[in-house]
Order: sequence, then structure tokens, then C-alpha cells
Amino acid sequence: MNIPESVAIIMDGNGRWARSKGMPRTYGHTVGAKNVENICRAADDIGIHYLTIYAFSTENWKRPENEVKTLMSLFLKYLKKCEKDCVENNMRIRLIGDREALSEELRDEIDYVEELSSKYTGLQFTIAINYGSRDEIIRASKKAFNKLISSGKTGDDLTEELFSSCLDTAGIPDPDLLIRTSGEERLSNFLLWQLAYSEFYFTKKPWPAFTKEDLLDAVSEYDRRNRRFGGV
Ligand code: IPE
Ligand code: IPE
Ligand code: MG
Repeated sequence: MNIPESVAIIMDGNGRWARSKGMPRTYGHTVGAKNVENICRAADDIGIHYLTIYAFSTENWKRPENEVKTLMSLFLKYLKKCEKDCVENNMRIRLIGDREALSEELRDEIDYVEELSSKYTGLQFTIAINYGSRDEIIRASKKAFNKLISSGKTGDDLTEELFSSCLDTAGIPDPDLLIRTSGEERLSNFLLWQLAYSEFYFTKKPWPAFTKEDLLDAVSEYDRRNRRFGGV
């Protein structure tokens, strides 16, 4: 089977899943966060090398204060647990998104696990927190133009390579496969540049119920796709 090297997941449906069980939305986030560990292990077993998940968008700040607070504390708790897990599993962790708006405690923890895991060669796991693709593109544009100006060049010297190297995802191959759970079929501001030639897979399963078998179903569907990249 043709295994995708790089997979991105929009893990959606935590709130509705919890509601369907008569529980508060935040319960869905707790179970959803736990499921990230299962799916990381599954991805690694299957032979996926890069996994990028969407955990919090630049638009998610619109949610009720208690939900945002729960999510932020789950991220911190998750990253602290990763200190041990990434060593045991040879897993590298990176964060994408604008960190400026995150608490100092969370930013320090992100720096710590990124540094701690930077040499690990197993699953290359990336978490998008306070991530919005348009925001990333604007930040990358500023970086790229500043680079050009400081080396005495102009906007005409901008290339796809230079621009890509200024994105948060620099060094992470574009996703071969994008999965979105919970039945929505949209990107919600995720990886607009990077998904240019990715295969899309939508499933009705909500994220807390998404299993290794579901990931395998997505990978088998990917295997059946014919990627042409504009050729014949
Ligand atoms: C995904 O689940 C997690 C985040 C966006 C943080 P949701 O919270 O969006 O759950 P639904 O889509 O409302 O069910
Ligand atoms: C996208 O899910 C963001 C994450 C999964 C983190 P949303 O639930 O926020 O997206 P919309 O609002 O349904 O488009
Ligand atoms: Mg949602």
C-alpha cells in the first residue's frame, strides 16, 4: 500500500460528540485530547512520518471563555505529558500558529518540548494552536520581504521556495492527505498554501470516536487515488 508520508487532520466534532452523550462540550475536548495520543501511535505504526493536527484556530477565540480556558489548560497538560512520551516514542513535536497570544506558561512549555524533542527522528508531530492560514501567510509575507530587503533585493526576487521557508511549516512536507472528521467539508482556514495538491478525505466520525481503523480507512482510500499534479 502507498502510505502517505505527511498527513494533516482537522480534528472536529468534540463538542457535538459530547452533547450527543448528554455531556458538556468541554468533556468532548478532554476525550479528544486523549485520542490525539492514540492517533499519534497509530500513525507511527502505519508508517506515516509527518502528522499535523489542527487543535485551535485563530477564529476559536470567539468561543465562550470557559471553553477557551479548558482548551488552553488541556494543551498545557498534553505538552507536559509529552515530555515523557516524546522521549519514549522518539517523537518530535513542533507547534505552528501565532504564539504571541498564548499565555507565557504555555509558550515556555512549547519552547521546552520543541527543544527537548528536536533531535527525535520518529513521528514528526505538529500541533496547530492559534493557527490561521491567512494569518500565517501574512506573517510569512512580512518575513520574506524583510529578508529580501535586508539582502538588498526587491519583491521581484520572491520565489515559492523563499516564501515556503518563511511559513510556520518550514521543513515539514506538504500534506499528502488531509482528513477532516465530523462531517464538515471545509478547510476553516487550515494550511491553505500547503494543501494545494493534497488528497481530501472527509468522514462523519467525530474526533473523539476516530480510531486507528478509521485512519487506516483513510489511508486505503488515499492508496486508491490517482494523483496527477497537473500532468496526465
Ligand atoms: C474540534 O471540535 C476542536 C476544536 C475546534 C477546538 P469542536 O469543538 O469544533 O466540536 P464541534 O465541531 O463544535 O462539535
Ligand atoms: C476548525 O474547526 C478548527 C479546529 C479543528 C481546531 P471549527 O469547529 O472551529 O470550524 P468551523 O467553525 O466549523 O468552520
Ligand atoms: Mg467544530
